[in-house]
Amino acid sequence: MDTFVIDGGRRLAGRVRINGSKNAALPLLAATLLTDQPVRLRDVPNLADIQNMLRLLRELGCEHRDAPAEGTPWSGTVTLAATDQSKSHAKYEVVKTMRASICTLGPMLARRGYARVSLPGGCAIGERPVDLHIRGLRALGAQITINEGDIIARVPTGGLTGNTIFMGGAFGSTVLGTANVMSAATLAKGTTVIECAACEPEIVDLALLLNKMGARISGQGSPRITIEGVDELGGAEHRVIPDRIEAGTYMMAAAVTNGEIILDNCPVDTLLSALDCLTEVGVHVEACNATPTTVPTRSAHRGCDDPMRCSVRVTSDRILRPVQVTTQPHPGFPTDLQAQLMTVLSLADGNSVITERIFPDRFLHVAELSRMGANLTRLGSSVIISGVRRLMGAQVMASDLRASAALVLAGLAAEGRTTIHRVYHLDRGYDRMEERLRSLGASIQRVDDREAVAAPVPAGC
Ligand code: EPU
Repeated sequence: MDTFVIDGGRRLAGRVRINGSKNAALPLLAATLLTDQPVRLRDVPNLADIQNMLRLLRELGCEHRDAPAEGTPWSGTVTLAATDQSKSHAKYEVVKTMRASICTLGPMLARRGYARVSLPGGCAIGERPVDLHIRGLRALGAQITINEGDIIARVPTGGLTGNTIFMGGAFGSTVLGTANVMSAATLAKGTTVIECAACEPEIVDLALLLNKMGARISGQGSPRITIEGVDELGGAEHRVIPDRIEAGTYMMAAAVTNGEIILDNCPVDTLLSALDCLTEVGVHVEACNATPTTVPTRSAHRGCDDPMRCSVRVTSDRILRPVQVTTQPHPGFPTDLQAQLMTVLSLADGNSVITERIFPDRFLHVAELSRMGANLTRLGSSVIISGVRRLMGAQVMASDLRASAALVLAGLAAEGRTTIHRVYHLDRGYDRMEERLRSLGASIQRVDDREAVAAPVPAGC
């Protein structure tokens, strides 16, 4: 198993291009099940979750027409054609490695009339139910049973029928639930209205692809999405939006190392709440081609030709200020940046509070950051962060994707050596993070776990 060894305390400087978004690409790939025509996606990131989704789609009868030959570099372009409609079972073996397998349910059901997808179960960040996915598909007329741990869904005689569906739950809207129901409704008879739909940019991107395939969707990006059903969808070509969470993570890497990083292909338009928060903390994000003064957050995209693919310079004040932040569905502060922000606020000058409203138990990083000297007190779904002057290197354990990113940021800022075990979690969502951080001046190595344990830990750590 791989481990990162980071010698912290180096200022990061340089340029990084933000990759295509993992969370946009996963439902886009699943949407290729809605047609037997080829769908071509560009800027697909090279991540463990994407490779798992491609493996699953091949098992479900999709031809991957431009699969790179062994040893050749990843081009980012994926062309899939769902030519074999006979295999419609997403099995536990794949689903347990990647919860996003659930987004094959709606497309398979609508196109093939039958889908069997293993129930994803919980994960390190919480329970993660799929009741809203099931409720939404049932409202379209799907007959759904749970058997042997699988969701078994069938289209009734006469097909799926459009309906008005409220998709809010105890924690607000659901991103992949909205993706599933919106995808299935494209082939339903009549009109579907999804109320309390997720407004995330990844849903907007999915609606864009589906419309290119012939769907008739409007209202994406708002809590009410309307879908006029069509008889069939066809092939299309689409470029995946850049990854707002990867961008936010590199912004925070600049903040904790007092660095200066230029991010190319940065979707500032999708990051307004995070940029607001970072400005309050003392992190400056300015469009590279704008006048070289600090640009207030809400206008950080001024001067960008395209606020979804902008070049921005990220710098920070030497003294970071404390803030109070609550995670919320988009356009609120994203839960997927909560752990990384906690690392930043651990080094702020005063007391901050983070409240988690999407996944109230998404705090596995608290104990690990505390081992590095962070002063954190958890009270239910909130954490009080009393800023400290420095973090100290330590051996820590990655527990989930974003918690791992938070530990990497802590390691970059800490004095001495940090060893992060189980970085396979990180590889699910960040492409070659250690190489990219090295190009910015970080001292970070990927080593085999056994070597890491033997590595000398410098005095004082
Ligand atoms: N929820 C329900 N019932 C459902 C579905 C969700 O109660 O049927 C609850 C969840 O338990 C949670 C809230 O609703 O409290 C929101 O969950 P959501 O369904 O929106 O999460 P998701 O669609 O499964 C996606 C991302 C997550 C991201 C969340 C929230 C992908 C592949 N995953 O998950 O990304 O945290 O939306 O924005 O898009 C990550 O990238 O690290 C990650 C976990």
